[in-house]
Amino acid sequence: MNETLSVIKNRRSIKSFKPEQIKDTELEAILEAGTYAPSASNQQSWHFTVVQNERLINQLSEAIKKVYAMMPIAFLDQMKNDKKAQFLQKIGNNEKVHLFHNAPTIVVISGDKTEMYTAENCSLAAGNMMNAANSLDVGSCWVSGLPQLIDADPDNQFIKELNLPEGYKPVCVILLGYRSGADTKASERRKNLVNYVK
Ligand SMILES: Cc1cc2nc3c(=O)[nH]c(=O)nc-3n(C[C@H](O)[C@H](O)[C@H](O)COP(=O)(O)O)c2cc1C
Repeated sequence: MNETLSVIKNRRSIKSFKPEQIKDTELEAILEAGTYAPSASNQQSWHFTVVQNERLINQLSEAIKKVYAMMPIAFLDQMKNDKKAQFLQKIGNNEKVHLFHNAPTIVVISGDKTEMYTAENCSLAAGNMMNAANSLDVGSCWVSGLPQLIDADPDNQFIKELNLPEGYKPVCVILLGYRSGADTKASERRKNLVNYVK
């Protein structure tokens, strides 16, 4: 197997990190990989906010948990699935949960709200970044919740601290840090996903 396929196949979502910060050179290479993602009409409609402030990371985690704890009341119309709402409620009410798994770096990927394929563009940038991180032995994980916090509490003071560019909205957060603990194995891949038409 070539190196690229091996990096893609052995990337895992890392949910336990060492407190040690990643190197700036690694961070820059990961961010640059994000900018090389394809984008609709070459919009490149993403913005990356790197947060390495432990206090703010913790406060954002707590603020999102409060929104989750209100589920499904806050998002009754958006929650198509009651079980998912209950799952998020449990997370929100669990004191032990840190939504960002105590990662030393989080990257907020925001997209230009006026562009049609912003979520797709940002998601592809996120994928590039996670694979690039793995190639450098840096652990990564996509974490949801920040878009919901903005929807529920647009004037949230911690969101304001992120200083996002005008007209941009977070799509996801990518955690970065050195993995602590043993390697995790990929779960079984689902079968029968492909049909061929020749
Ligand atoms: C759209 C999306 C949302 C996710 N949200 C979270 C999240 O909020 N918290 C978290 O710990 N992991 C989150 N993950 C990571 C998944 O749990 C992980 O990708 C999945 O379990 C498969 O594991 P793997 O990435 O190691 O293959 C998310 C992944 C995606 C693609």
